[in-house]
Amino acid sequence: MRRIAISVAATSMSVMLAGCGVLNATGSSDDAGPTKGDDITVGLLLPEKANTRYEQFDYPIFKTKVESLTNEKGRVEYANAEADAGKQATQLQQMIDEKVDVIVLDAVDAHAIADGVQKAKDAGIPVIAYDRLAEGPIDAYISFDNELVGEVQGRSLLESLGDDLSITDKVVMMNGSPTDPNAKQFKAGAMSELKGKVTIAKSFDTKDWKPENAEANMAEAINAIGAANIEAVYSANDGMAGGIVKALKAAGVTDLPPITGQDAELAAVQRILAGEQYMSVYKSYPEEAESAAEMAVAKVQGRDIQFDAQTRDRVDSPTTKDIPAQLVPVVALTKENIEGTVIADKIYEVSDICTAKYEAACAEINLK
Ligand code: BGC
Repeated sequence: MRRIAISVAATSMSVMLAGCGVLNATGSSDDAGPTKGDDITVGLLLPEKANTRYEQFDYPIFKTKVESLTNEKGRVEYANAEADAGKQATQLQQMIDEKVDVIVLDAVDAHAIADGVQKAKDAGIPVIAYDRLAEGPIDAYISFDNELVGEVQGRSLLESLGDDLSITDKVVMMNGSPTDPNAKQFKAGAMSELKGKVTIAKSFDTKDWKPENAEANMAEAINAIGAANIEAVYSANDGMAGGIVKALKAAGVTDLPPITGQDAELAAVQRILAGEQYMSVYKSYPEEAESAAEMAVAKVQGRDIQFDAQTRDRVDSPTTKDIPAQLVPVVALTKENIEGTVIADKIYEVSDICTAKYEAACAEINLK
């Protein structure tokens, strides 16, 4: 819990820091370097649609920010790969052929895309890795503190098991896609909390992060372990938590075990309210997407000071060392802090969450 409290404080601090960046990075062409002005094209490549964040938050927030930083003269060219690494390689090549000014890339397969990143570099187009650390010669990286995401999930899961927590408690672990380096970090963070405290009775890597694949894996776990013997489920994100709930209900479970998540998807916030999911991880999409837009525009316009201010951290990928980076902190989302997180940040209106079905649950926690 202590680390969670610290990460809340860190979040507001970095919001303040980001705020300073916004004031400085006017985006006007006055302080643009010898490179480009406001009339720029920014390529944005996102990985999939099965989880709601990309189309609902990342893309629109990023687009609006690029437009406002360029006096409405800059353009975002957007492509979504729908979890197909081959399709993403084609989309990246198309952007290189069209000579966009900079590419912001959230890789479907961080390893396989390295060739494409090299091609962009050869064509003189900077690439900023977004959320997932793409391999190859990228210029910068922006993401959340992904190891912390896993730790927060792991700690919440232990908390959900309460005082009678025991090493014999059987936990099913539903991890993300093996082509996503974040999935490995979430797992490592979670395992650093769970190891020696519970028994991981079954663990899966989930192809393409697809909810239906998580559902099928959960059905397999239920068959192997028996629904009544599963004390808790570690789910790396909310979309998969939805699939896991379906599998448990299909097996006749009415009193669901605690299930974790991530992304603060609307359906997950409602499940948390209804007691069908224990927690999610709230990651501030505005902080990530707006900082990415600032990095991209500053890079193209040759505004090095603004670019450096956005990338004070350093990370290594399997191919590249000392990548300038920004890692945004995260916070656990439970019933207790719905108001202070997704409502306060205007991610959702109360009316989005408290539909007729959830009226009573909302009244219980005074959400109105
Ligand atoms: C992101 C998560 C998301 C998952 C599935 C990860 O790389 O960090 O927020 O749920 O991919 O798209």
